[in-house]
Amino acid sequence: MCGIVGIIGRGDVADGLVEGLQRLEYRGYDSAGIATVCDGRLGRRRAVGKLAELRRMLAEDPLPGAVGIGHTRWATHGRPTEANAHPHAGSHVAVVHNGIIENYAALRDELTADGVAFESETDTETVAKLMGAYLDAGREPRAAFAEAIGRLEGAFALAVLFEAEPETLYCARRGSPLAVGRGDGEMYLGSDAYALAPFTNRVTYLSDGDWAVVMRDRVEVFGPDGAPVSRQEQLSDASAAIVDKGEHRHFMAKEIHEQPEVIGHTLSAYLDPVSGTVRLPEGGIDFAGVTSLTISACGTAYFAGLIAKYWFETYARLPVEIDIASELRYRDVPYRQGGAALFVSQSGETADTLAALRDAKEAGQRIGAVVNVPESTIAREADALYPTHAGPEIGVASTKAFTCQLATLACIAIGAGVARGVLSPEEEQRLLTALLEVPRHVAEALSMDEALRDLAQDMASARDVLYLGRGVSFPLALEGALKLKEISYIHAEGYAAGELKHGPIALIDEAVPVIVIAPPGPLFEKTISNMQEVMARGGRCCLISTKAGLAAAERGGELWAKVPVPDTEGLLSPLVYAVPVQLLAYHAAVAKGTDVDQPRNLAKSVTVE
Ligand code: F6R
Repeated sequence: MCGIVGIIGRGDVADGLVEGLQRLEYRGYDSAGIATVCDGRLGRRRAVGKLAELRRMLAEDPLPGAVGIGHTRWATHGRPTEANAHPHAGSHVAVVHNGIIENYAALRDELTADGVAFESETDTETVAKLMGAYLDAGREPRAAFAEAIGRLEGAFALAVLFEAEPETLYCARRGSPLAVGRGDGEMYLGSDAYALAPFTNRVTYLSDGDWAVVMRDRVEVFGPDGAPVSRQEQLSDASAAIVDKGEHRHFMAKEIHEQPEVIGHTLSAYLDPVSGTVRLPEGGIDFAGVTSLTISACGTAYFAGLIAKYWFETYARLPVEIDIASELRYRDVPYRQGGAALFVSQSGETADTLAALRDAKEAGQRIGAVVNVPESTIAREADALYPTHAGPEIGVASTKAFTCQLATLACIAIGAGVARGVLSPEEEQRLLTALLEVPRHVAEALSMDEALRDLAQDMASARDVLYLGRGVSFPLALEGALKLKEISYIHAEGYAAGELKHGPIALIDEAVPVIVIAPPGPLFEKTISNMQEVMARGGRCCLISTKAGLAAAERGGELWAKVPVPDTEGLLSPLVYAVPVQLLAYHAAVAKGTDVDQPRNLAKSVTVE
């Protein structure tokens, strides 16, 4: 999950390459580099760290050249060092790569035996050295490129610049996304349309297995068998404007505070408040006739799916199978005939989610995609698209995309319930009214920001934190723990509150803050009993509930902290309770001084398995 760009420009392209990379930095940010051809010679600049380091290097040591490739890296093979940073070089060729070359060790052994010396620990350098070896053996660039990619196993998007053809870029896509952009006498390559947006909105997405020769005035695209194919150019609506932080210190804070608005947008795409009905996209999944539903995703998107499982079961009486995509894709799932499958993804590019989608499609399931990037691969490969309308999410930790996924999934589940005759028009109307109140409740929950900051400062000194919940609050407990650990680096675990006594309660002492998520409803008393078991063992409990819930719980003992949340329809409560959970993680990370928007070791889009 790295970002790649390429430009055939009319003047020096270094600045343009860096601009494109800046828009791809969400994919990885441990090192970056560019290569150009100038006066018939390949030149490279590579720097460890964020893009700012590469910019600094280029300011001191500019790299001229009107054709170039660039890369921002999330390390898979080899530590983030300058030697491991892309572009990698072979004899008279430079290569940038997103993905993993699975047979790189065998290729490297073969090349080493032929006397080729390697400078890095990466799989990518093998590709550069292989192409270089073919050039040294007398092949033309095109033949060297085609022969080399024919020998690669794994997933990749590649962009290649040959010294001998300084006006041409070669590229290939297998598994990882790649788009070609057409400008006015200029050509572009990028991992997504967003990277190309400052330069052009005329975008051609390569299909899986395609490779292409990009020249100043035309593009030749070839399918996996090497035969020419034509791919349609589309007009992308990715915005060229760089999203800024507004008045906030971090993108994550801005995105948390945008939630009332973006949840509202998302709901208005699926609900008709006048008629009080759900409107699902035409040609979508026909839930009336569906026999079963599979849901799959990764990370936060998976937790959204896990919450939706409760909704589909209750509102639509639909049997739901759910698994994380990296597991589902390798299971031998006996998919039911007539089943549907929903894949949830902010980026729409997550490699495991995409692979699980393809398996389910192959197994004859009708595929729905709940995605935030409508041009993404997952969106394009699904039979039915259910867009979330969160807008670009820049902070690596997902916040507004999560609640917009929930809003979308809630609408689909209610729509499915109506289609299956489980929900009456009155029940549909009641749930819709509750959903339409969510943006207001989220705004109210956001007013707790300062109080939660003080609480988070207290929590920031903890070594471990536990999150507990039952029912729909259990996946939210998992999400709370994920959010905290990924940005503050505090160890955290989410548990089903009823499961605690089967082991994890051994962790409890006064040093471990326990965040209990307990909205009113049939599971409230049971969750509070579990909380009291913790308090009886010296645990410090913070309860997130309504004012009435907090008052009722306090009779059982003194709480360490209380977080009041507006009263939201029981099963829909995660849409609102997500807010304090996100704010706690955010403020704990700020208190610890971590890099909130770009936490260590992570990347926004995970396009490798
Ligand atoms: C956590 C987070 C990740 C993503 C996961 C899936 O805050 O953002 O866990 O949710 O990598 O990504 P998408 O939704 O792009 O498929």
